[in-house]
Amino acid sequence: MGSGAVNAGRSGWTWGYDAYEPERERLVEALCTLGNGRFATRGSAPECAAGPVHYPGTYLAGCYDRRTSLVDGRTVENEDLVNLPNWTLLRYRRLPEGEAAGPWLSPDSGELRHYAVRLDLRHGTLHRDLLFQDARGRGLRVGHTRIVHMGDPGLAVQRTTFHAYGWSGEIEVESLLDGDVANTGVERYHHLESRHLSGHRTVFAPGGVAGLSCRTDDPGRVVALAVRTDTSPERPARTTSTSTGTAQAYRLPIARGRPAWCAKTLALRTSSDRPPGDPLAAAVEAAARAADFPALRAAHEAAWRRLWEEGELHVPGEAGRILRLHLFHLLQTLSPHTADLDVGVPARGLHGEAYRGHVFWDELFVLPYLGLHFPEVARGLLMYRHRRLPAARATARRAGLRGAMYPWQSGGSGNEETQELHLNPRSGRWLPDRSRLQRHVGSAVAYNVWKYARATGDRGFLHGGGAEILLEVARFWAAAAVLDPALGRYRIRGVVGPDEYHDAYPGAEVPGVDDNAYTNVTAAWVLARGLELLGELPPARREELCGLLALDDEGLARWDDVSRRLHVPFHRGVISQFEGFGELAELDWEAYRARYGDIRRLDRILEAEGDTVNRYQASKQADALMLGYLFRPDELVGLFARLGHRLDDETWRSTVDYYLRRTSHGSTLSSLVHGWVLARLKGAEAWRYCEEALLSDVADVQGGTTGEGVHLGAMAGTIDLVERGITGLEAGPEGLRVDPVALRELPRFAFTLSCGGHRGVRLRILPARLGIRVPAGPGGPFSLVLPGGRRFTLLPGEERWFGL
Ligand code: BGC
Repeated sequence: MGSGAVNAGRSGWTWGYDAYEPERERLVEALCTLGNGRFATRGSAPECAAGPVHYPGTYLAGCYDRRTSLVDGRTVENEDLVNLPNWTLLRYRRLPEGEAAGPWLSPDSGELRHYAVRLDLRHGTLHRDLLFQDARGRGLRVGHTRIVHMGDPGLAVQRTTFHAYGWSGEIEVESLLDGDVANTGVERYHHLESRHLSGHRTVFAPGGVAGLSCRTDDPGRVVALAVRTDTSPERPARTTSTSTGTAQAYRLPIARGRPAWCAKTLALRTSSDRPPGDPLAAAVEAAARAADFPALRAAHEAAWRRLWEEGELHVPGEAGRILRLHLFHLLQTLSPHTADLDVGVPARGLHGEAYRGHVFWDELFVLPYLGLHFPEVARGLLMYRHRRLPAARATARRAGLRGAMYPWQSGGSGNEETQELHLNPRSGRWLPDRSRLQRHVGSAVAYNVWKYARATGDRGFLHGGGAEILLEVARFWAAAAVLDPALGRYRIRGVVGPDEYHDAYPGAEVPGVDDNAYTNVTAAWVLARGLELLGELPPARREELCGLLALDDEGLARWDDVSRRLHVPFHRGVISQFEGFGELAELDWEAYRARYGDIRRLDRILEAEGDTVNRYQASKQADALMLGYLFRPDELVGLFARLGHRLDDETWRSTVDYYLRRTSHGSTLSSLVHGWVLARLKGAEAWRYCEEALLSDVADVQGGTTGEGVHLGAMAGTIDLVERGITGLEAGPEGLRVDPVALRELPRFAFTLSCGGHRGVRLRILPARLGIRVPAGPGGPFSLVLPGGRRFTLLPGEERWFGL
């Protein structure tokens, strides 16, 4: 698998690069990001400020700012995840005895002789080694080690060591805190207002601490960063400040065998922290009293050890190494600290500025893993949605509907934040962005509520906030569905499905398409689950909710009716992605591939040609096939039967085959879903898609997008593909169901999960065998259901093997 990254030490626990390649640097920065769920810092070179090659970025989960910009003659508002001041910046140069200072050194300097970057996944540390040599052969070896503390989510440290070869004198070091930053990490957004921070204030405090605070505008939030710089040998700092930052300069004696070092310890505080207080004073105090580097590192590594124990997935070989990297980035974006925050799942992690840090439906690919390993985190993310229920209700009301209409893209407030215009970089044209018509996002939220509650048995949540979400989404679907008397069925019109390419019928004036099969089938599912949930609620709660949501018998009868009579279109023996999809023109895929090579973004290619993808049977990503991703075959058959359709094996296989040939995979989620669906169908091509999903970020398959932030849905989804997709695993009230499919390329793997009150249940998959170990402890008997309905009960402390 070609990722271009080295596996140093062959342990499968490092991710690294052995050469400095400026054109690859942004990808390296994104993939070497360090974070702790509260904030993350891109893996940028400490020597370099933002420019064409380097893009340092630090992002605090949930820290958005809203600004207006003039785009194509229109005023547009955007909510962006804010790039915070750069705390990593460090400049250094040689001062050889009796000579003038040498040049400031960086990876871009001509004196660079060796360069290596190593991400140590086990310990959550990033190392960078540089060797410089001047024309007279005088060497300077520089080693940076960075951590973003997983134990204390307000801290990070970067330590730099300097070794001199062939000279002695001093090394001049400048430790900077740079607040002159903007959101300029994504070229396509350069028309948008990029400055989000103002009101900068700097201080210096005893103990080598420099502090900087600034604020976002809307909502106004104060963010303060304080850096304590320690050096060896210890030397006094010369301090200077500008209107937006601070500098602490040191001259450290150095000679062969007498290295020098400098450590920057960051403390980050904001006005939203609890308990409240002056963020700048709090940051300065926290930086001053933080432990030294070895102690901070030891506590950080201990926190990572605990995470790896709970999150463990062991897959041999290169696939396993990539999966570990995916897991590492997932846990850095959504860690146990996230459970205490009010944040959602940012589609591009905390790793860059693509999609402006927004939250989409991608949690559909992320929460299942979290629910099985870190249920508190999954619950925290669902509570983020629950707190935004009032906003979703208001959005539905504005659309003249009842219930809750969750936004396609959102950030802090929970209001719709999807851009209204987007730029086609191929044609240079600004185009209307109708992707906000993806109403299916509400069903994704409801689906996660249901699945989380089943996997964890968390009835408190299901009957509390969970029920409110699920029932409000159901109420929305019941209101959005309109009976078409001629058809004798309900229809949901004017939407966009997961395939964002089709946002209108060719030539139509109104946006959206009708009866997107994925939207309608999942809506029917939500309505059916809503009824089921009402049936199981304690009577007092049921009465309370029915009163609150104005649900009466007549209304519920309509839910039932809609859930059975939503229109699901078919054509030529396959499920139609939406009504009329089969009547669109066929695209000459071969001709387009021959002409353009990479046709993932077919929409942009066709628009630049003066055509539109709306005219063709061509999808960006899995849409109808998403149904096979969310539901087991028997569940899907049941769902279709409830809707009055017979979905036999042959229809499903033909549907898969049909869309496989008509999908350009313009989203990383596409290969993931196709890999999953084909693996479950034992399709020959399954691994090709799984492999592409694995390579999504590490090989940057979408052509330059990883540097703008990782694709968190695909990263988490690949882990889940192994743990649930291949194993057919489902945790529920009846225990753990497992129904593995054999995938030749992944014959053996192991992981631990939490299920039915047991934490640390270990599952091992080998060719035709499955092993399970239930940890000793208070959890009680553990139920396992194997293919064919074979049921077994294991006692705590028991380990057993089964033939498959
Ligand atoms: C995909 C969406 C996804 C979004 C954020 C888009 O390219 O089409 O399905 O939610 O990226 O990851």
